[in-house]
Amino acid sequence: MERDHALTPKRSSDARGVALASAMTERTESRTPLIATLERAETGRTRPGGLFECIAEGRVFEPVIHDEVATDEAVVEVDGFDLWYGDTQALHDISLSVPKGKVTALIGPSGCGKSTLLRSVNRMNDLIDSVRIDGQIRLSGDSIYGRGVDVIELRKRIGMVFQKPNPFPMSIYENVVYSLRIDGVRDRFTLDEACESSLRGAGLWDEVKDRLQNSALALSGGQQQRLCIARAIAAEPEVLLLDEPCSALDPIATGKIEDLIDDLEGLYSVLIVTHNMQQASRVSDNTAFMYLGRLVEYGPTESLFLSPRLKETEDYVTGRFG
Ligand SMILES: Nc1ncnc2c1ncn2[C@@H]1O[C@H](COP(=O)(O)OP(=O)(O)O)[C@@H](O)[C@H]1O
Ligand SMILES: [Mg+2]
Repeated sequence: MERDHALTPKRSSDARGVALASAMTERTESRTPLIATLERAETGRTRPGGLFECIAEGRVFEPVIHDEVATDEAVVEVDGFDLWYGDTQALHDISLSVPKGKVTALIGPSGCGKSTLLRSVNRMNDLIDSVRIDGQIRLSGDSIYGRGVDVIELRKRIGMVFQKPNPFPMSIYENVVYSLRIDGVRDRFTLDEACESSLRGAGLWDEVKDRLQNSALALSGGQQQRLCIARAIAAEPEVLLLDEPCSALDPIATGKIEDLIDDLEGLYSVLIVTHNMQQASRVSDNTAFMYLGRLVEYGPTESLFLSPRLKETEDYVTGRFG
């Protein structure tokens, strides 16, 4: 079923969709600017200014975390996490918990650290020499930066799909069962079953079931991306990280991936980076707004889009900056 790509928030009525659309095109009511919140908290007074100024001055601020997301059972907990590339700090004191079985979107302007945060969750940043970190990230309670953590094992528990589909230069079948092969699974029945269920899970089975032995590279971009999702879920990860998975795809392929993300909900915990506001509102339960390497506001997607607490969030989700 093709999705209507109007501004429709997830699982909500038409009225809500209209409300979101209008919230995204006209100012509703005035919000408290973050800087004012800070000033009041720090000095009991306010003065004009902006988030840029606040951050440039190196002042500390508390992000706004809505109560609803604080009570969800967490699968990933980011706790006071900082990251530097050489001398440049890219993430500042991020604390964010990703709830189990839900879809969490990370939004924010380009360069605000979304990919860096996502890569930190499965330790892909280990591959970059200049990276230094502080703070903690836990997966189901286990510290992922703890001593003795086996990164290969960790990445089996946390699947990742990138902006550009990256199928391996092998058959469709071998792409999907790749993680089982690594684990030494030889039983044909087990492999066949994993292949079919993962391709079904990724909404690709019907399109490829008659050509499983063909090269994955011959698939279209959208099919390749669903194949990468199938390959990731074949490993039965606890968390699926998606970094702008639709940015290289056309609108129809994008719709299919969004439908798929919807279907994954409940089965997997998904953390998705997107710079597309409509996509965030369509696919996610909760949304975290990041800015200049900091978490600014985090809450249920509907609240973040329809009634954000901070003016900065409102300006961003309504397209006034970024
Ligand atoms: N490998 C890297 N080395 C140095 N700086 C990097 C690297 N990757 C990202 N950065 C910098 O970190 C900041 C955050 O980047 P990124 O996480 O890619 O942002 P986003 O995904 O939100 O666009 C940017 O200033 C970017 O230039
Ligand atoms: Mg990015």
